[in-house]
Amino acid sequence: MKLRNRWLAGIVAFVAIAAGGFALFAHQPEIAAAPPGTNDFSAAQIARGERLARTGDCAVCHTAPGGVRNAGGGRFDTPFGLIVSSNLTPDRATGIGAWPYAAFERAMRHGVDREGRHLYPAFPYTSFTRLNDEDMRALYAYLMTQAPVHSVPPPSELKFPFNLRILMAGWNLLFLDRTPWKPDAARSAQWNRGAYLVQSAGHCTACHSPRNAFGAERGGADLFAGGGVVDGWHVPALNTASRAPIAWNADDLYDYLRTGYSARHGVAAGPMAPVVEQLSMLPEDDVRAIAVYVASFAPLNMGTTADLAQREVTLGVLSDGVMAARAQTGAALFGGACAGCHRVNDAPVLFGVRPGLAFNTNLYADSPDNVLRVLLGGIGHAATRDLGYMPAFRYNFNDAQLAALANYLRTDIAGQPAWTDVAAAAARIRSETAP
Ligand code: HEC
Ligand code: HEC
Ligand code: HEC
Repeated sequence: MKLRNRWLAGIVAFVAIAAGGFALFAHQPEIAAAPPGTNDFSAAQIARGERLARTGDCAVCHTAPGGVRNAGGGRFDTPFGLIVSSNLTPDRATGIGAWPYAAFERAMRHGVDREGRHLYPAFPYTSFTRLNDEDMRALYAYLMTQAPVHSVPPPSELKFPFNLRILMAGWNLLFLDRTPWKPDAARSAQWNRGAYLVQSAGHCTACHSPRNAFGAERGGADLFAGGGVVDGWHVPALNTASRAPIAWNADDLYDYLRTGYSARHGVAAGPMAPVVEQLSMLPEDDVRAIAVYVASFAPLNMGTTADLAQREVTLGVLSDGVMAARAQTGAALFGGACAGCHRVNDAPVLFGVRPGLAFNTNLYADSPDNVLRVLLGGIGHAATRDLGYMPAFRYNFNDAQLAALANYLRTDIAGQPAWTDVAAAAARIRSETAP
């Protein structure tokens, strides 16, 4: 045997042994089907589970657009391919109806389904793993007592090698932190309640923390540092990297998370709207706790309460577009098409809210994308009913006009340096969002 072939044989043998060892380590047994009994759950448990399901946005991801609630088919475009959410109703053939608690718990804590297949972390089990036992059982009780729906969602389409689910065992080894959640004794009970909800069911960091090359959330100083893109929306930072012109505090966060609107910040739109829709149905105390926890990450050096009050007045004046009299395309468009609904300091509010645009974090972001998405598509489905709607301007403005308008908002209303290539971005988003 030539040396080269001996080498090759050695390498092949080594790879085979390593792969075999990995497969042995990664192998997860099937858990036998064993549907729970109908009397296994108390009413209190089911109610508690429903609150956790809302905190965890289960239905937001497990419902196809226009489809039956929790029957699966939600689509997630990731850099690794398309992942489709599964049927989460207790249908025995096509949902999780045949799953005993042990199987549900393994999926939520280890990311492995009842049959032993590894799940992809587009399903945020990396956060759900921190749910305590009582909450995990309540969630199971709630899901198992909903109406079963027979539905087989289309298969996921991942690119090779990511279509090999077994690889997720290695991913979990590297990135799944299964340390049970522990309170921080130095903090208040309310802060800890918020921390628990956010880090477990709430999975806020799934969107608000940046991810590494393997798609795992970054922690440490990058916790809540934003920067990810979800459905084409840039997710803002909630920590000291926040671009909000007034630092978020617990009261403003409470308003925003509870109603979808804070007068000092604006509205929750895009992928944040369904999150708020769910949070608006939670007990006040839970939302208050989440607000207190998240506020503890915000920058603290933005001035005294008096400074901020002064800034609020200034931003209100800027929002009114006092420059609108100038014969500049963007200003003229704003005066005609937007000021009627977005002027802060005059005119009665006819319906909904009146978001002052100088307060909107998106105008301070590096990318104009979120603003362009709202201008092209409007806000047809408000986070909560009382916010009102924002009309779409897709057919009213061409890309050059959208660019002029967006940069007017950016430079004159928010006082930031102009964005570049805005018309090209408008053209791209227009085609991505074509009806
Ligand atoms: C961000 C979107 C998202 C959220 C939020 C979400 N899921 Fe999922 N879930 C998914 C996706 C996608 C899959 C499929 C993953 C795969 O195929 O590997 C999935 C799979 C599952 C599975 C495995 C089901 C099966 O048949 O294999 C369970 C159980 C599950 N989710 C429970 C929940 C619960 C309970 C909640 C709420 C507390 C929840 N999910 C919230 C996206 C989500
Ligand atoms: C599915 C992804 C997603 C999840 C999950 C998510 N967010 Fe968001 N969040 C966004 C996006 C996108 C925006 C920008 C919305 C806009 O501009 O209208 C946003 C905006 C925000 C803002 C406003 C920031 C600013 O400066 O304007 C706050 C506060 C916030 N989210 C808090 C939370 C909290 C708390 C949670 C968990 C309970 C959470 N988010 C979960 C995507 C998400
Ligand atoms: C008919 C009233 C109306 C008009 C006209 C209008 N808006 Fe709005 N706009 C709203 C309302 C109401 C909201 C909040 C809606 C919600 O969140 O449900 C909003 C939200 C927004 C947001 C916040 C989106 C976010 O993600 O935070 C921006 C930016 C915005 N409008 C810009 C504009 C611009 C620019 C124009 C002019 C081209 C305009 N609007 C015209 C009513 C209007």
